[in-house]
Amino acid sequence: MNPFQSLLLSFPPEAAHYIAMSALRAARWLPGSCCPLPGASRQFLGKTLQNPIGLAAGLDKNAEAVLGLARCGFGFVEVGTVTPLAQPGNPQPRLFRLPEHQALINRMGFNNYGMQAMARRLHQVRSSGRLDGTLLGVNLGKNKDTSNDEAASDYVKGMDCLHSYADYFTVNLSSPNTPNLRQLQHGEPLRMLLSQVKERQMALAGQSTPVPLLLKVAPDLDEDEVGQIAEQVCACEFDGIIATNTTLSREAVVGRKHAEEAGGLSGAPLTLRSAQVIAQFRRAVPADLTLVGVGGIGSGADALAMLNAGAQALQIYTSFIYQGTNLVRNLVIATNK
Ligand SMILES: Cc1cc2nc3c(=O)[nH]c(=O)nc-3n(C[C@H](O)[C@H](O)[C@H](O)COP(=O)(O)O)c2cc1C
Repeated sequence: MNPFQSLLLSFPPEAAHYIAMSALRAARWLPGSCCPLPGASRQFLGKTLQNPIGLAAGLDKNAEAVLGLARCGFGFVEVGTVTPLAQPGNPQPRLFRLPEHQALINRMGFNNYGMQAMARRLHQVRSSGRLDGTLLGVNLGKNKDTSNDEAASDYVKGMDCLHSYADYFTVNLSSPNTPNLRQLQHGEPLRMLLSQVKERQMALAGQSTPVPLLLKVAPDLDEDEVGQIAEQVCACEFDGIIATNTTLSREAVVGRKHAEEAGGLSGAPLTLRSAQVIAQFRRAVPADLTLVGVGGIGSGADALAMLNAGAQALQIYTSFIYQGTNLVRNLVIATNK
């Protein structure tokens, strides 16, 4: 761990987040273009991914530090979750460290400045011409005050506003911190939402190539539910699945400080579970459907296990908080053998 990393971890978690984000934002003043570390390149959603290591959604909710994050060497960076309207999220404290487990619990609640603010930032990033090869995903959510019946319209608004900047969209139905959001992962509500999003994708594309669509799912699903989601994703012609978001399970951290805080648990306790979910999806979907593995990837061995489980690309969040930018390099090297 570098000295900046140790210093950051001495601050309360959310304060450390804002300090790190300020540093990453300031990196845009450095001269030159921002490109991925060279690694095991591959085709990903119709584009070339220079290396398979991505930043997961939730760190840069407002696309404020895309260039700084690209400088860390990621093959792709996912911004958001962004909602149509700005919203404050849950009251603080809402982010907790469990360092013995290299884990976090968060109940942020989609705090963000809204899609218009993100569009302005992404316009600057794209028009600077300095994002050189790093793919950019935009993770979409619904506002807390939007009912589940109206949810599809929030995702469609996000697509309307942001489609010219995104290399792909993630439809996030798996945050545990927006009341009832996860119910949309099932049955008729899922089918209706995915088909409305698909319809808008095609309408927005016209004669040009549509912006690919991924669905982000929870780890708290049984194999039947995985099968049903896989079926809908294929029926609605989505391009892929991101598995997984944070877990509601506390099995791995029982009795630890903060273990009883409400919210989603991420980091090392999720490593095995998220790879299992990827393996279940791999069995349930055709070979050409893209799977992105995320959850507790903190070492080269974890990264390789997730690729072996069937993922084409990986994302990290919690391990990046604990280990810093060196981890990106280590994972790019480990996956380039
Ligand atoms: C503080 C925090 C905020 C998050 N916010 C989001 C979010 O806004 N949208 C989302 O799809 N996932 C969000 N996530 C989930 C991560 O993207 C990721 O799926 C999850 O943390 C598992 O990966 P990890 O173990 O590498 O952290 C968040 C995670 C954390 C720790």
